[in-house]
Amino acid sequence: MGHIRDYDYSLLEEVIFLKEEETNQIINFKDLFQNGNPILVEIGCGNGHFIIDKALKNTDKNFIGIDIKQDRLVRCREKETKNSLKNLKWICGDAFFVIRDLFEDNSIDTIYMTFPDPWPKRRHHKNRLFKKEFVDVFYTKLIQNGLFIFVTDHKEYFDKSFDVIKNDKRFIVNANDIDDEFSISLFGYKWRSENRDFNIFILKKST
Ligand SMILES: C[S@@+](CC[C@H](N)C(=O)[O-])C[C@H]1O[C@@H](n2cnc3c(N)ncnc32)[C@H](O)[C@@H]1O
Repeated sequence: MGHIRDYDYSLLEEVIFLKEEETNQIINFKDLFQNGNPILVEIGCGNGHFIIDKALKNTDKNFIGIDIKQDRLVRCREKETKNSLKNLKWICGDAFFVIRDLFEDNSIDTIYMTFPDPWPKRRHHKNRLFKKEFVDVFYTKLIQNGLFIFVTDHKEYFDKSFDVIKNDKRFIVNANDIDDEFSISLFGYKWRSENRDFNIFILKKST
């Protein structure tokens, strides 16, 4: 059996936690990063492969990884501390509420939703993050011309999500504009090496 490394939870001291009981928790990210660079967010950042790579390659932008699981964020922090990145922060919480309650309106340049949990069983579909209520939330948080990028290998989740936004006039919708950048994420790498197809849509806030 493979050895599972222990989790050093002290690494979470640098992670921002959503406080479920508080309503007004808007963060001033300009103060936090000490600059006004564009803000890019990954929802469900998992072990951090994708966003750490992005942050390393784009030091003129600020990145925020969000995940609901503390253990995942410990793994993210382990990798990050090896690289000492000033343009990367982490938030622990349900991304719906994190985006809704922690970000100012018109403040996010790009949101990546990379390989979200597909909840394949019908009775679990209610747990899926991508739904109309969430679209309304991230619409208000994106800057004008800001992007929301959804990528999954799960065709049925893709189709259902696409149905939610395909006629939404607030966005310019671009589907299956496939880009190899997503092979960087752990799931992207895994699916790619199994020759599975990805499905992508990109929403550009246009009104
Ligand atoms: C299938 S993994 C993908 C991880 C990573 N994006 C990748 O491509 O390798 C989905 C991730 O989303 C996180 N997640 C699930 N529901 C979430 C939610 N409501 N808010 C934030 N993160 C969530 C899970 O903990 C998990 O790390």
